[in-house]
Amino acid sequence: MRLVLVGPPGAGKGTQAEFIAAHLSVPKISTGDLFRANVGQGTPLGLEAKKYMDSGQLVPDEVTINMVKERLGDPDATDGFLLDGFPRNVPQAKVLDDMLSELSVKIDIVLELIVDNDEVVRRLSGRRTCRGCGKIWHIEFDPTAKPGKCDRCGGELFQRDDDRPDTVQNRLMVYAEQTAPLVDFYAAQGKVVGIDATGPVEDVTERAIDALRPYEG
Ligand code: AP5
Repeated sequence: MRLVLVGPPGAGKGTQAEFIAAHLSVPKISTGDLFRANVGQGTPLGLEAKKYMDSGQLVPDEVTINMVKERLGDPDATDGFLLDGFPRNVPQAKVLDDMLSELSVKIDIVLELIVDNDEVVRRLSGRRTCRGCGKIWHIEFDPTAKPGKCDRCGGELFQRDDDRPDTVQNRLMVYAEQTAPLVDFYAAQGKVVGIDATGPVEDVTERAIDALRPYEG
């Protein structure tokens, strides 16, 4: 299956992507994670991306699209993938459609995670991510047994630079202006399924898997 996850910052895309990708046996491809890995390694791509990420703006399309093109060319993505955070605007979606049609494949389904802005702010202010394995935690909603240490690998937890309150507001604005129109773009192709992304993580996963069932196999 070729799936796109869409939803505002903090909707739970990264959290759910892990479970859904494992359920579908496809790789999870997150442009945010790819950019953060480049930032962490200090690559030229990372230095360029960081300027935009720190202010909550989108990284320019040509940089993002080339990175995704390269990743989609990896052998593990041949038979399916889950895209988290890409496409992020209509021009990126159009390029993705063209890229896939050259391979005679297409996006099967776009899963929209629906949450309101107050919930987003609560989630992002308490998010912590593991430096070792990338697992996402929350100090209140999904805490680790020992503060600051990952339950899965024992790695150190950190707070993302772009989770500062002023940057979060900016990311929400960018989402409304540039990413929300993407939902209409895919709805016109009859590909959008929306689910309520509030409540316990396991309940959201169950709703997601139920929503995808008709498109599996
Ligand atoms: P990206 O990393 O994609 O960030 P985002 O879309 O803003 O999404 P987040 O990762 O912040 O949130 P999420 O929905 O994954 O939520 P999570 O699961 O962590 O992008 C970062 C930046 O990179 C962008 O601003 C941009 O600059 C650049 N970029 C990326 N892609 C790009 C593109 N295509 N084009 C251009 N630029 C691009 O959950 C959040 C918190 O909530 C966690 O703490 C979690 O534990 C908690 N939580 C999750 N589910 C629940 C629940 N059900 N109940 C309670 N808490 C929950």
